[in-house]
Amino acid sequence: MTDKPDITSLFEPRTVAVVGASHNPEKIGYKIVENIIACGYAGRICPINPEGGEILKLPVYKNVGDVDGEIDVAVITIPSKYVYDAVKACADKGVKYSLIISSGFSEVGDYESEKKIVSCAQEGGMRIIGPNIFGMYVAKSSFNATFGTRDVRPGGIAIITQSGALGISLMGKTAVMNIGLSGMFSLGNKSDVDESDLLEYLITDDSTRIIMMYVEGVKNGGRLVELLKKATSKKPVIVIKAGRSKRGAMAAASHTGSLAGSDAVFSDIMKQCGVIRAESIQEALDACKYISNSPQPKGENSVIITNGGGMGVMAADACEKYSVNLYDNIEDLKRTFSKVVPAFGSVKNPVDLTGQATLENYKTAIDAALANKDIHTVICLGCETAFFDASKIAEMIKGLYSNSKPAKPLVYSFFGGARIEDCITSLKAVDIPAFSDVYEAVSCMGVLYENYRNTAYATESDQKEEQGIDDPSIDVIVKKALGEGRHFLLSYEAEKVMAAAGIRMPKSFLAKDFDEAVKFAEKIGYPVALKVVSKDIIHKSDAGGVALNLENRQEVLDAYQVILYNCKKAKPDAVIEGVSVSEMMKKEIETIAGAVRDKSFGPVVMYGLGGVYVEILNDVAFRSFPLGRKDILKMINETKSSQLLMGARGEKRKDVGSVVDAVSKLGTILARHEEISEIEINPLMVYEDGQGVMAPDVRILLSKGPEAK
Ligand code: COA
Repeated sequence: MTDKPDITSLFEPRTVAVVGASHNPEKIGYKIVENIIACGYAGRICPINPEGGEILKLPVYKNVGDVDGEIDVAVITIPSKYVYDAVKACADKGVKYSLIISSGFSEVGDYESEKKIVSCAQEGGMRIIGPNIFGMYVAKSSFNATFGTRDVRPGGIAIITQSGALGISLMGKTAVMNIGLSGMFSLGNKSDVDESDLLEYLITDDSTRIIMMYVEGVKNGGRLVELLKKATSKKPVIVIKAGRSKRGAMAAASHTGSLAGSDAVFSDIMKQCGVIRAESIQEALDACKYISNSPQPKGENSVIITNGGGMGVMAADACEKYSVNLYDNIEDLKRTFSKVVPAFGSVKNPVDLTGQATLENYKTAIDAALANKDIHTVICLGCETAFFDASKIAEMIKGLYSNSKPAKPLVYSFFGGARIEDCITSLKAVDIPAFSDVYEAVSCMGVLYENYRNTAYATESDQKEEQGIDDPSIDVIVKKALGEGRHFLLSYEAEKVMAAAGIRMPKSFLAKDFDEAVKFAEKIGYPVALKVVSKDIIHKSDAGGVALNLENRQEVLDAYQVILYNCKKAKPDAVIEGVSVSEMMKKEIETIAGAVRDKSFGPVVMYGLGGVYVEILNDVAFRSFPLGRKDILKMINETKSSQLLMGARGEKRKDVGSVVDAVSKLGTILARHEEISEIEINPLMVYEDGQGVMAPDVRILLSKGPEAK
């Protein structure tokens, strides 16, 4: 394998070949050449077609090898069965990047041919984008090698899309919305170049101010996480959510596995990276447009100005949904707005100018908000009334932008008939963020704030911690279980893993008979718990293999016999190794901590509210691992139940530091021991500050090889 070519050759190619350039204007191979020419590409264009001749007045080469000089990019647009030969010819010629438009590879089940073309390219030091793409557009080199629209506006937004059809339509849509693109990249089957490769370039690309991504599946999640973190510390990244199947979750063997099988992992990891999630294309485009045109807020105080109470209340609801903080210094609000709010209006936030508010009132209120240094953003609303002259309002607002843009972020939402719609259209035409739906307006403000907070957080560095874990002991336990053909650890083995990691468990001993059970119970001190130990019985409670709160010798003897009887009855052929006798723990806050190996992102840790209702309550958060203490704390704080740890309702604060340690240790175990696929402590009992955590029940699953989840 040769070194990878410099990615600048992809973004600023000097020579491009189109393999499969067609003489027929109805074919993709013709339209691509046409688009490259029409968008003003200044480099050299070499159409390749066995017939030779001319296409769009360009001389045609019969073979790529016939082109004199270097070729940076080859666009391949011929039927899939000929692609391998074309790739080989390009690699032999020393082409640096091949954009393979052709469909008919892994997306239809032909993984073999796709692998073949990738290894052929790699041998020749060439990289592949696609196959199954619509091409790419780069504004700085006026390079439109797509079969999409030619009407693209150059600007500051780069779009990376896994879906081709969506990408093509986005080119048209962005033009209609007056959104300028720095680039549009279709990744198709991602056989070689993926979003991380493009991000690496786009992070430092000055012409790209915002990155928008449509992602369906992630292959190399660890690298993507690193690059997204880097990217968001420099510019906003907006990702459109694509659903993740719940099927995997149904088959999962643990709570961690089943909770992690949903969209939750992807969503939380995007949050971890400071990426803004959009629910729809429209939301993403609105967000891109708003962020690129708006100044950054200088603080968290937002004010709603309205002429309708109902609309104001709806906006307040939307502010809660999109985490926009409403300014509530009532004295300051009174000082700022009392001159414009009539006695029957309200100076509280939302500031209600009432239904009789005129153009002048709006202007005074907006000016007052802009002049107050403690008000950082403004949400301006209007319902159509006889006093609310929509056309004049549009002019007044445009006036705010006529010299230079206002120094503070504003959004507008107006609701009413045809004149209001005209007002919105005329504002939008000059890139002023006006919407008829209040939620659309506030969602833009929410995105701006998300970006503001991400940037603030990105500047704080979080040191990853080295955890002291006895790895060789864990290796021995895991090897033994795998050697016995097991893909889970028995409870006493899991206990040893916890001991190796220094996670406290209740004292526990394995008793082989009654006498031992009593001896251990007395050593530990009553009350104790008894649990069957058998590799054939995983769900101990279901088999009647658990007895809790045993207060004395007699209760231990009785429970021992009952457990053996129940388990023999439930599973007559089970080999029972004995019964564990363990300390009964003090009950406290029951949380759950876990780590799971995600197919896309590798080790992922989880924290949440624990106990038997964990799936129903679903109050959990995930993070890609490794991560430092601050990030773990942030993950904990994301759960609703985190308040329980901080000392809700007058209770003492719990030992959050020990929870952070436990989560970090679980992640470390998974990161260091490839064969472990899932660890879950449920419940993880959390005691008062300084008293640590306790892991009464640990479940550890081992990987079944490449097929394992
Ligand atoms: N080198 C150079 N040119 C070649 C060639 C080769 N090895 N083999 C064929 N050609 C020429 C053909 O002669 C033809 O030119 P002509 O029209 O002047 O005769 C041109 O390349 C195209 O080949 P053709 O066989 O006509 O294919 P096509 O245009 O019907 O289809 C694809 C080719 C790539 C468009 C088609 O196979 C395909 O995959 N379509 C789906 C594309 C898609 O949707 N991608 C994903 C988007 S999201």
